[in-house]
Amino acid sequence: MIVAIDGPAASGKGTLAKRLADHLGYACLDTGLLYRAVARDVAAWGFRLEDPWAAVAVARGLDPARFEDPELRGAAAGDAASIVARIPQVRAALLSYQRAFARQAPGAVLDGRDIGTVVCPDADVKIFVTASPEVRARRRFSELDARGAGVAYETVLADILARDARDADRAISPLAMAADAMLLDTSNLSIEAAFDAAVGLIKRKIGQ
Ligand code: DC
Repeated sequence: MIVAIDGPAASGKGTLAKRLADHLGYACLDTGLLYRAVARDVAAWGFRLEDPWAAVAVARGLDPARFEDPELRGAAAGDAASIVARIPQVRAALLSYQRAFARQAPGAVLDGRDIGTVVCPDADVKIFVTASPEVRARRRFSELDARGAGVAYETVLADILARDARDADRAISPLAMAADAMLLDTSNLSIEAAFDAAVGLIKRKIGQ
């Protein structure tokens, strides 16, 4: 059983994916972490993020044991990830790991940008999670503000719009909703309400 959760930056798809995986007793993979880890290691080796040779070498040798680095969760790591994510050979190098993860029993939840379209086109359930850019920026801003990051809301919104453009406009595996995905707009939903709505969509889809 494979559940694919896709959506733009700060849409809440990561939180939703984890909660669904806990609820269903499935494994969970945040695929953004793969791209974040590639970008981190390319930079650590002293190469430019746009360097396809370095990025592919890193992607081929990526160690999943090193995905738990808290540094990977930050906004800078996300921006860097969206640069290496444009390199087709990097995406190809990360495919087999994601597909093998998806096939495990009793099931897996994967979240990202291209899970329902490219990584697992045959996923049993596909949910495309979205929210307006303003709502996503507001949520991200509240998180950063609570940590005392001292950023302006307008800066956060501009970053989100720039990342949306980079993820949606790239030539390979752009952020896109699969034709058979179910749309979940969380603009007016709490985390709890989004989770309940997603459980409802899954039940409807697999008839449980
Ligand atoms: O979901 P995230 O913010 O952790 O993702 C960081 C970047 O990685 C995102 O801007 C684009 C890229 N990404 C991708 O291209 N494909 C995925 N399946 C997941 C992330």
